[in-house]
Amino acid sequence: MLVAYYSLTGFTAKLAAATAAHLTGHAVDVVEIVPVKPYSHFTAGVRGVTQAMAGTIVDLAGTAPVAGSFEALAVFSPTWGWMSSPPVRSFVAGLPEGRGLPAVVGVTHAGGPIGSFDRLAGLVRARGYTVLEALSVFCYASDAVEEAAVRAASALTAASATA
Ligand SMILES: Cc1cc2nc3c(=O)[nH]c(=O)nc-3n(C[C@H](O)[C@H](O)[C@H](O)COP(=O)(O)O)c2cc1C
Repeated sequence: MLVAYYSLTGFTAKLAAATAAHLTGHAVDVVEIVPVKPYSHFTAGVRGVTQAMAGTIVDLAGTAPVAGSFEALAVFSPTWGWMSSPPVRSFVAGLPEGRGLPAVVGVTHAGGPIGSFDRLAGLVRARGYTVLEALSVFCYASDAVEEAAVRAASALTAASATA
């Protein structure tokens, strides 16, 4: 299973780590999505939000996952300007064709996701994945992070049991 995330300030990283921790009994790769041009708090607020709202694809470090290297996918992003972050949008754009593979998506947010989770789900669906959960997680509620991680892991575990 592939658990991929981008995180500027650590909340989404916690969601990814908690999800991986609940995927017991599975081989799990946790992959941090790293933009070639990193964001600071300032550049995220100016450049990052503009890119997020425009749907800009940015260059990522490392190589994109290849078809056949995973059987289920979790993708997590912070909300930036009501959207998923540019690194996550770019990672999703570079995914191999999903051919119906199960996926869960989740965004963390500070109170105003305004549909960022549904839009991220739409991007992953458009790559051919079956999105089982589109989670929206208030970043300052640690129980919400844990609850979302359990839901994400349960959905992926159930899907792999029936595959
Ligand atoms: C540039 C920027 C834009 C943001 N835009 C939103 C937003 O539109 N709605 C919202 O609820 N939170 C917004 N936030 C808050 C983050 O989505 C939230 O704190 C998230 O959990 C951060 O994840 P991270 O710690 O993994 O980077 C924004 C934060 C930043 C830095």
